Order: sequence, then C-alpha cells, then structure tokens
Amino acid sequence: MSHTFGGNWTEEKLAVMQRYFTAYARALKNQHFNKWYVDAFAGTGERSESKQPLAIGSLLFGEDAGEVGEVKDGSARIALAIDPPFDRYVFVDLNEDHAAALKELQTKFPARNIDVLTGDANEVLTTLCQTTSWLSTRAAVFIDPYGMQVSWATLEALARTKAVDIALLFPTGPLNRMLAGHGNIPPEWAKRIDDHLGPCDWRGASYQKTLKADLFAPNVSTTKKTINVEGLRRFVLKRLKDIFPFVCETQLELKNSKGAVLYHLFIICANPSKAAGNLAMRLAQSAVKLPRDSKR
Ligand SMILES: C[S@@+](CC[C@H](N)C(=O)[O-])C[C@H]1O[C@@H](n2cnc3c(N)ncnc32)[C@H](O)[C@@H]1O
Repeated sequence: MSHTFGGNWTEEKLAVMQRYFTAYARALKNQHFNKWYVDAFAGTGERSESKQPLAIGSLLFGEDAGEVGEVKDGSARIALAIDPPFDRYVFVDLNEDHAAALKELQTKFPARNIDVLTGDANEVLTTLCQTTSWLSTRAAVFIDPYGMQVSWATLEALARTKAVDIALLFPTGPLNRMLAGHGNIPPEWAKRIDDHLGPCDWRGASYQKTLKADLFAPNVSTTKKTINVEGLRRFVLKRLKDIFPFVCETQLELKNSKGAVLYHLFIICANPSKAAGNLAMRLAQSAVKLPRDSKR
C-alpha cells in the first residue's frame, strides 16, 4: 500500500536519510550493542508523490495529500534494505491502515526483526526511551512528520537516552507562515508552537514591539515580525543544541517547486562521548553535503 505525501523534496530527504543511516550502520558494525532503527512516522513502506502543492493545514496538522503518482520506496523499506542490517526495526504510525501495511513488510523481509507499533509517536518514543536499556542499545531514529506533530518533550526524552542518533525533519517553512506579521496568532496555533518548540521565548525572538506617539495617543504599541525562515533555522538549531550534545551545523534545506523552504533536516547525536559525537557529525556532514543525485 502506498500513501501520497510530500513532493519534489521527498527524494532528497530520503536520499540523505539513507546515506546517513547506512554510514551509521557501517560505523557501528563491529560494536556489540543491540542496534535498532526506529521510524517514528513510518508511513506504509511505500510512497507516491503528491501532484498538487500542499495546503498549510496539511503541512501543520497532518492530512494526507490526494492524487497518487509513481510508487517508490518509503523510509521503512529503505531502512530494511540497509546493509549491514539493524538488529531490530521499530515502525510507528498513528494510522491503522498504514500500520497494517507496515506489518506486511515482515513477510517481504523475513530475515528482519520488525515491530510495528500503532499509536502517537510522542507517546511511543517516550515509552521506548524510558523502558530500554541504553547501556546495551543504540538506535538510529528517523522523525519524519507531515508538520508540527513532534512535542519538544519527546526530543527531551530522546536526549536523556544519551544513546540515539536522530534525523529530524523540522517544518521551518510552515512555522514561519504561522508567525503572522501582525503577531496575532490564533490560540490553537500558539499552543501548537509552544508544544513544538518547548519552553522558550519564541515570541520575543520573532517580534519587536515599539511604542510610538501618534496624533491621538502618546503611546501606541506596534508589533513587527523580525524573523524569517533562516532566523527560525538558527533559532531551532540553538534550541536543539540546548538539549543535545551534538547537532550537525549543516542542514538539508527542503524547498517546494516554487523555491519556498518547507523543512530543514537536522541530524543530531544524543551520545555525549566526543568520539561518538564527532564521528556522527562527520557522517552527517557528508550525508547532507553530497549532491542530490549521487549514489545512496
Ligand atoms: C510524511 S509521512 C511519513 C513518510 C515516511 N517516513 C516515508 O518515507 O514513507 C507521515 C506519517 O506520519 C503518520 N502520523 C501522523 N501523525 C502521527 C503521530 N502523531 N504519530 C505517529 N504517526 C503519525 C501519518 O499517518 C503518516 O503515515
């Protein structure tokens, strides 16, 4: 079963994800950890690109796009084909039909050890982080939501493991569009931003208030937006660095066909060991920097 999402940027995103996690699997090949691949928004294993541009509601709140194009491998199938293989694959999806399609992958990849968990990625990841013995386990985690479905608290739980490497798709473009120029953000959107960015002064980083006198009043307050997508990228990078020891300075920037930035793909290492972090950042740099059509 394929599901339709994304656009021209999806190919680039999955190429980087594949390069990074392949390099990761090779680097850990001779280490005696249980090596897991965790796909928190796993989809169905197959994908077909959306033919029409996605509406903001689709990017932010996670609705499927409509029209079906050519069927290709999604992240779950790409991960299952990585050599050397992981010891365990954990696929998570909220959608029951998607989870059923993921379960069918076990028959297609009988040599792989696959667990499919149906549920909200935030709850599943938090539980997994809390119940796994991270002294003997390492995990490559792919977080590929449609929009702002990831809670900051989930990233904090991942950071506390000190044992996972993460490729995180962050919706900087939609977030920028939510930050309206006049600063009047609907409460439902503000709540979503609070949950997504965690405890921080995102309003202060995004808006400047000035007091001016006009003809009728001595102090008229005006609000001006002072941030753009690039400013948001830097803000998110700094937020991530507050909780993770290593975050790759270079991110893959994903744009739609009109050239507007939609997402940044951040590569993160939660392991505080210098050797592990430096290696992860080297692998991340080269995975992100290779041209889009180079071999995966
Ligand atoms: C962009 S698609 C993932 C595509 C997939 N990584 C691939 O390459 O094939 C997002 C997926 O997240 C699922 N989803 C949406 N909200 C979720 C949530 N809160 N927890 C887990 N999965 C969710 C959707 O059902 C959808 O399958």
